[in-house]
Amino acid sequence: MNTRYRKTIIAGNWKMNKTPTEAKSLINEIKNSVGRVRWCEVVLCVPYIAIPTAVKLAKGSRIVIGAQNVHHEASGAYTGEISAAMLKDAGCKYVIVGHSERRQYFGETDAQVNAKTKAALAAGLRPIVCIGETLAEREAGITLDVITLQLHAALSGVDADSIRKVVIAYEPVWAIGTGKTATTEQAAEVNNHIRTLIRKRYGAKYGRAISILYGGSMNPSNAHELLAQLDIDGGLIGGASLKSDDLTAIVKASAQ
Ligand code: PGA
Repeated sequence: MNTRYRKTIIAGNWKMNKTPTEAKSLINEIKNSVGRVRWCEVVLCVPYIAIPTAVKLAKGSRIVIGAQNVHHEASGAYTGEISAAMLKDAGCKYVIVGHSERRQYFGETDAQVNAKTKAALAAGLRPIVCIGETLAEREAGITLDVITLQLHAALSGVDADSIRKVVIAYEPVWAIGTGKTATTEQAAEVNNHIRTLIRKRYGAKYGRAISILYGGSMNPSNAHELLAQLDIDGGLIGGASLKSDDLTAIVKASAQ
């Protein structure tokens, strides 16, 4: 990470875990251990239904709350969906967009990821846009091509003024929830590629300022080395964010 130019972000993605009651005790534990950190932003992306509790508990600490998904339309007849304005009003600052589980299990396309990114920005939320290759794509040697396509598709129509609010998360699909982490070299190479693409598209100033995270089995034992890389500005953490000790260790590892 390069803290001179950009923000370090440690974001927990709780996925479909924790009832509001369970969320309350986990957030209290996390708040006690890292609620005052100054060197990074700690974001907890909790289930929709836990957002009100989470926002209330995080108040007065340096922890901020995010959602894990959003609908791209502003309002209307979309039974069961949640809009960006609703998330903003509920106190969210961030929203994860295009997570590989959304793409894989719910058929989210690049076009939808783009629409969601723009909806989040329009509502004043910071989208954490996830991109990453499958194992087959890595083995075929097309990782950087896949990343290039996904990034450009996700950011179609996003102007320079808005890119300042966007966070990118590189998450190799084969490393999510599998215990397999990308090697430091693999993660650093892709994150550097993403920064180069942003620089070419928006200019050096924006390339330097954008936070690019790594996600995929980040844990207390690999976090330090991953976060030491110049182009890895934080982590998007699934499993390890459900244990306050593990998340705390990762937050501490980001103080480099
Ligand atoms: P993991 O999940 O840390 O459990 O691999 C990461 C993610 O899905 O964002």
